[in-house]
Amino acid sequence: MPKTIIEPFRIKSVEPLRRTTCEQREEFLREAHHNLFLLDAADVLIDLLTDSGTGAMSTHQWAGVMEGDESYAGGKSFYHLKASVQDIFGYKHVVPTHQGRAAERILFSVMCKPGDVVPNNTHFDTTRANVTAVGAEAVDLVIAEGKQPRVKHPFKGNMDVRALEALIDRVGRDKVPLVMLTVTNNSGGGQPVSMENVRQVSAVCRKHGIPFYFDACRFAENAYFIKLRETGYADKSPKEIAQEMFSYGDGCTMSAKKDGMANIGGFVCTNDDRVAQQQKDVLILTEGFPTYGGLAGRDLEAIAIGLQEAVDEDYLEYRIASTTYLGNHISGEGVPIVQPPGGHAVYIDARDFLPHIPLDQFPAVALANELYLEGGIRSVEIGRLMFAGAATMDLVRLAIPRRVYTQSHIDYVVEVILDVWGRRDRIRGLEITYEAPFLRHFTAELRPVGD
Ligand SMILES: Cc1ncc(COP(=O)(O)O)c(C=O)c1O
Repeated sequence: MPKTIIEPFRIKSVEPLRRTTCEQREEFLREAHHNLFLLDAADVLIDLLTDSGTGAMSTHQWAGVMEGDESYAGGKSFYHLKASVQDIFGYKHVVPTHQGRAAERILFSVMCKPGDVVPNNTHFDTTRANVTAVGAEAVDLVIAEGKQPRVKHPFKGNMDVRALEALIDRVGRDKVPLVMLTVTNNSGGGQPVSMENVRQVSAVCRKHGIPFYFDACRFAENAYFIKLRETGYADKSPKEIAQEMFSYGDGCTMSAKKDGMANIGGFVCTNDDRVAQQQKDVLILTEGFPTYGGLAGRDLEAIAIGLQEAVDEDYLEYRIASTTYLGNHISGEGVPIVQPPGGHAVYIDARDFLPHIPLDQFPAVALANELYLEGGIRSVEIGRLMFAGAATMDLVRLAIPRRVYTQSHIDYVVEVILDVWGRRDRIRGLEITYEAPFLRHFTAELRPVGD
């Protein structure tokens, strides 16, 4: 049996990439004020800014787009979506939304009140913002290993169950309207959560009568990590593993832009009839009728089909192999990364990569800029520019869009990173010349120190 893991698809439609020269990229970067968010996408060769909504759809999904039922109410595409979601997630109510954060807003506005506390392994930034927006507090309880980039652990996304018990004892059960678990843990390096941990968190929730919800964006990648790394799951399919995982919860929020394999969409699920009714009331006010939830019928079709493709074992084998390949090839040459490589992304530790750049000169922004200058690669800083003084790490995230880039694209990315690694001593830090009062990383303007 050949050992090479191939892309389990062939390419039917291609999108040309535009090559640029180093001089052009210097000019583009100057015009973008050294902030990669401000570049035109056309000036980027390999875009690893995010894996969200950037994937390639399959022939089946495109065929589904043509089948989309655009009826305002009761369209067949909604029932297709509902059946596909229930097949994998098993929850009673499925409420479509235009993307993940809309699902979060609806869930938290229905379930939380000011003064409440919502535990999670690590809240994603939109999740945290939506918890905070209703006056509740978002608390991160990931295990200690999950906060240490170099430490290897098979399930660095696990929640610290003792800390969860202690939190519930301290604030009281009535202050905890739900517990969330993010699979995989995006803000914690795309690291998975084990089935054992899911069971333990579920048991704590059951004991206290607290609803347990998943932030399910990358549930299929998490299921595959369980298959690879957890005893007793090697012979189960990713879908069976996902079904078991969700059976321990009461509902979920989902951004279909990740493991929904779609370019837009999301949903919120619950087993609670009363919560579902309230969610639909909010939905009608802000998103649309409950059988389309802010999406076109064709989007519902694409998600219904995409969810089933995301749990395909050949796809997941290639997906995780591709991220691991990138991580291992750069770390094998000494590049410091968050270990082990995550499901959807590789995170470079910029503080270790550029120890000569002080933290207030944004080492991860400097490194991301250099990857663009060297090879036209766009990545994203997750560090001091994004989180200011609250940043505990300065990382460059290389997020891999689903089914978009081939092995040779990844080889090219490895080569570019290693070239920058070879001249790291000469990279300079940056200073801010403009910043917005909040979420400054999107629009900040910077210049190299000493310019
Ligand atoms: C873990 C997690 N939760 C929620 C979201 C929000 O989803 P969306 O971008 O569709 O609003 C994201 C998006 O990146 C995410 O990674």
